[in-house]
Amino acid sequence: MKIINVVGARPNFMKMAPIIEAMNRHPGRIEHLLVHTGQHYDQKMSQAFFDDLGMPVPDIDLGIGSGSHAEQTGRIMIAFEKVCEEHRPELVVVVGDVNSTMACTITAKKLGIKVAHVEAGLRSRDMSMPEEINRLCTDVLCDYLFTTDRIADRNLEREGVPPERIFFVGNVMIDTLLKHRAMAAKLGLLAQYGLQRGGYATLTLHRPSNVDDPAIFAGIMQAITTIAREIPIIFPIHPRTRKTLENSPFTIHDSQLILTEPLGYLEFLHLNMNAKLVLTDSGGLQEETTVLGIPCITMRANTERPITCEVGTNVLVGNDPAAILAAARPILAGETVSGRVPELWDGHAAERIVDILLKSAAESKIDAEAQRR
Ligand code: UD1
Repeated sequence: MKIINVVGARPNFMKMAPIIEAMNRHPGRIEHLLVHTGQHYDQKMSQAFFDDLGMPVPDIDLGIGSGSHAEQTGRIMIAFEKVCEEHRPELVVVVGDVNSTMACTITAKKLGIKVAHVEAGLRSRDMSMPEEINRLCTDVLCDYLFTTDRIADRNLEREGVPPERIFFVGNVMIDTLLKHRAMAAKLGLLAQYGLQRGGYATLTLHRPSNVDDPAIFAGIMQAITTIAREIPIIFPIHPRTRKTLENSPFTIHDSQLILTEPLGYLEFLHLNMNAKLVLTDSGGLQEETTVLGIPCITMRANTERPITCEVGTNVLVGNDPAAILAAARPILAGETVSGRVPELWDGHAAERIVDILLKSAAESKIDAEAQRR
């Protein structure tokens, strides 16, 4: 079975790493190529993750870079079409919800190539999120929809996806977290930043809805600096957010807000697993904190990952400064939160995916032979 695996942006790398590892266990049966679209290209947004996760160097790097959504999507499609025509894979595997995910799905399907989407069926129902548009377009086209929870299964069923295309397999990002947890725990980063275990918060912020509008961004930062008067907050800053920060009159005084460059996978896992609190607008971090059992305050009005609120440690607070502070106060005062790990977030999702793909390929072969006879 000839497969092209696609990655493009930072949140893709930790999802694809265990899939590649699981495919490598079947060298006689799976031949696979890794395509990096180059949507993320900075050392700290891309290469650092390949190093941390032990991922192979991409076989093909499309070098697409930044641009408007249409420019980025269009450039990926043009370049990926050539790759598919040259290599003629039987299957393309895409992960997550970034522009690369959708662009490569559309391209492959129009060439008659099957596509598998890992992390299918997540829905925020918020069409102002570019990722929601990417998720919808990807899922409607894919042949294999691998889901992280039963809520996603139901979303897909309601949208009319035939049940035989939906496979509840668990969470590949959690495969990566569980694999690297012990290694990350051994890092000695806290002293470097002057932090105490359980005595600081981590912060990530990069959603266009939070960082592109200077007034909204200023409101969030006002709440953050208030919290940072009580507890140090470590803030690895995303390139998009850095641009807003540089153009805003906002200054950080009198608070313990520690700005850093984007951090590697292991470093950031180390900081999150030892934190008292995580403040974020990321998607993946809501899932990681659920597994780590760390309180997570999500500065968004909605989430495509409601299971993290239903069973995990996540709360949604939107971007109103008062709501952010109200959610943080009890945790700072020592209130604990508890949750449980969702079903099948057990470190074996990638193996399940590869088993399903192999079984399906074997069945198609049998069908094709029966038709020939
Ligand atoms: C993208 C994904 C988002 C994901 C996020 C994780 C889409 C629609 N969005 O958002 O779902 O959560 O990645 O980081 O695909 N930039 C750099 N260096 C890089 C990459 C980007 O400087 O390596 C800068 C560029 O100037 C760019 C800006 O960051 O304009 C935003 O990058 P882009 O890939 O457009 O979207 P993200 O906000 O990173």
